[in-house]
Amino acid sequence: MAAGKVSAPHRTLSIALRMALWYALSAFTLIAVATGALYSVLTTTMYQEDLRDLADNLNNARLLVRSSAPGQFASSPQPRPSWAPPHQPEIYLRVLDSSGRTLTETPGMAGELVPPSSADLARISSSDGDQRDVLSRSGKPFMTLMVRVAGQSERDPPQFMQVALDREHAEYLLARYRERLWLVLGTSLVLCALAGYLIARSGMRPIQQISRTAAHIRSTTLNERIQAHGLPAELAGLAETFNSMLDRLEQSFLHISHFSDDVAHELRTPINNLHGEIEVALSKARSGDEYREILGSCLEECTRISRLIQTLLFLARSDTTADTLERELIDVGRELKKVEEFYEAAANDAGVVLRVRGDAGEGAEVNRTLLQQAVGNLVSNAIAHTPPGGTITVSARAHQNQLTVSVSDTGCGIPPEHLPRVFDRFYRIDQARASSGQNVGLGLAVVKSIATRHGGHVDIESEVGRGTEVRVILPI
Ligand SMILES: Nc1ncnc2c1ncn2[C@@H]1O[C@H](COP(=O)(O)OP(=O)(O)OP(=O)(O)O)[C@@H](O)[C@H]1O
Ligand SMILES: [Mg+2]
Repeated sequence: MAAGKVSAPHRTLSIALRMALWYALSAFTLIAVATGALYSVLTTTMYQEDLRDLADNLNNARLLVRSSAPGQFASSPQPRPSWAPPHQPEIYLRVLDSSGRTLTETPGMAGELVPPSSADLARISSSDGDQRDVLSRSGKPFMTLMVRVAGQSERDPPQFMQVALDREHAEYLLARYRERLWLVLGTSLVLCALAGYLIARSGMRPIQQISRTAAHIRSTTLNERIQAHGLPAELAGLAETFNSMLDRLEQSFLHISHFSDDVAHELRTPINNLHGEIEVALSKARSGDEYREILGSCLEECTRISRLIQTLLFLARSDTTADTLERELIDVGRELKKVEEFYEAAANDAGVVLRVRGDAGEGAEVNRTLLQQAVGNLVSNAIAHTPPGGTITVSARAHQNQLTVSVSDTGCGIPPEHLPRVFDRFYRIDQARASSGQNVGLGLAVVKSIATRHGGHVDIESEVGRGTEVRVILPI
């Protein structure tokens, strides 16, 4: 036995997990970008504010230096600038002469900031100041601004003023802010992932419900359906498709189960007959003629059983086979003539006229044996249901890529309530004939199956007391 090795399906991330990840990632990115932008706005604003503060302080100091007597700064160093507001203790001022010598400075400034070199001073023009961010001796961040101040008279050499702002507090605030920011970002990452997972899971719940229903449907519970009511629009469509598939499956199962019942029933009658006849034969000693007669009758039953089995096999294969039909180009008129010859004797016995109309041969590419079988079944039905003196007409016509073979009779006709079902398997109208065991009710089912295998269909018209016409329509 060639055991096929079935590999386990490769499992990928669940949709809920994927959705949760995407949701968390996108929400987190959005939050991170927003907080990053806010942080950057905050740092630049604080920096600009500090710079403006520094410039204001410098202007105030410049006015003060201008208005004081020459050399006053050098002779009496200011312990602390009088203009410095009390809440801004971190502002420092230094005044230098043109050679770079410190004239005066805020106490403690020398300990923090090295005085600028004369090369630094040479670079400062009168219009633009020089602004820098530097680290103090003790490692504190400072922002410095240095300008050149013209002497009071033209002869006086220029002086330089340097203001410095200790930004340690600002940096401390920003560092605290950053710490909080990481905390907020970390928490929002966790919350986003959680929210994403919950949203995705609730979105997936209806799918799980559908899958649960589908999982416990068996051949015995084919009547179960998925509740499409209340499902989201996309899934309601899926549920309806699934339900209609179940409808079709249920119909097929019912059909198969009825068919099996009928098959068992039809086989039981001839086998019972056979059984009875053999039992009677064996009940006592008989003459050779009697045995011959009984065996002949048994053979007849066997032939019927074998014919029935053959028909059932043909129908079963037609249902399942996807093979393309073997077709050949035939002269339809000639084939109909052959059928006429075959059934002539039976028609004569029944006292009906059998005729084939239209001798101009229609060429068609069909399966010869199956076409003969279909027409034969129709003719044999017509002979069986037409009283003596009636007429049976077999005709063929090719029109618009369709071959229509029709068998019409002037027989008893079929009541309209039976018409929709006469092509069903084992369907018979006349129960008396059915119980005689001669007819099983498969003739028209075979005709329909032959038409279907050719990609065509069948059609029936009948009127009680006037006759019946059955048409087989095949594409050619
Ligand atoms: N030409 C017809 N005129 C009147 N009734 C018909 C005609 N053809 C078919 N029928 C009715 O349709 C039923 C189904 O026909 P179908 O050929 O499938 O079965 P059957 O002839 O009873 O049995 P089988 O053909 O298997 O021997 C028949 O029992 C018969 O009552
Ligand atoms: Mg028949």
